[in-house]
Amino acid sequence: MIIAIDGHSSCGKSTVAKELAKRLHIAYVDTGAMYRTVTLFALRRGFIKGDECDIAALESSFKDIHITFDFNPETGSNATFLNGENVEREIRGLEVSGKVSMISAIPQVRRHLVEWQREMGKSISLVMDGRDIGTVVFPNAEIKIFMTASDEVRAQRRYDEMISKGETPLFEEVLQNVRERDRIDSTREESPLRKADDAVLLDNSNLTREEQFEWIIEYIEMKKN
Ligand code: DC
Repeated sequence: MIIAIDGHSSCGKSTVAKELAKRLHIAYVDTGAMYRTVTLFALRRGFIKGDECDIAALESSFKDIHITFDFNPETGSNATFLNGENVEREIRGLEVSGKVSMISAIPQVRRHLVEWQREMGKSISLVMDGRDIGTVVFPNAEIKIFMTASDEVRAQRRYDEMISKGETPLFEEVLQNVRERDRIDSTREESPLRKADDAVLLDNSNLTREEQFEWIIEYIEMKKN
């Protein structure tokens, strides 16, 4: 079984995806982490200069990028490894976050990662979250969920998360960043973020985590019967 979860940034996709994987005892694949890890690799190799990336150099280095995950279904914790090194913290940092939209808009990068993602789904059941899972990676997935929430709610959640980590963001800047990421993800030429026609829409602006999870479980039960 493939469960595809797509949606806007900061709307809780990965939380839902991990909980589902835990409940159903299946694997979880965070495709955003894959784009982030390729971005980290490109930064480390010096392929990114300002808003430009040396695409040819990056493409010829694909063979040197091995991304693996260590997902613990009991705790729901997930770590991302680049060539055996745990890069989970680094890929969530500001430097990678600032460049990942640019890297994920490169067609060669997308083709490479999509091929890899499809390969993973060939042999095992999984929950995969991202922006193009239900539209491009697994158009035949049994379950497709498209998650969203209002800009303000998503910015508030992101803001609270940053405050809890000891950061001191300005709410207006966080809101601006959420809107800018939506704009880039939805307007890029290659695989823009959009809801698949057969995906169910889940707006969690006014739902608690538990309410949302129950809603999804009911939906999956309904689809299975
Ligand atoms: O989900 P996230 O914020 O970790 O994703 C990081 C970036 O990668 C985001 O800018 C969108 C992009 N992305 C994508 O283009 N396609 C995916 N399947 C997953 C993420």
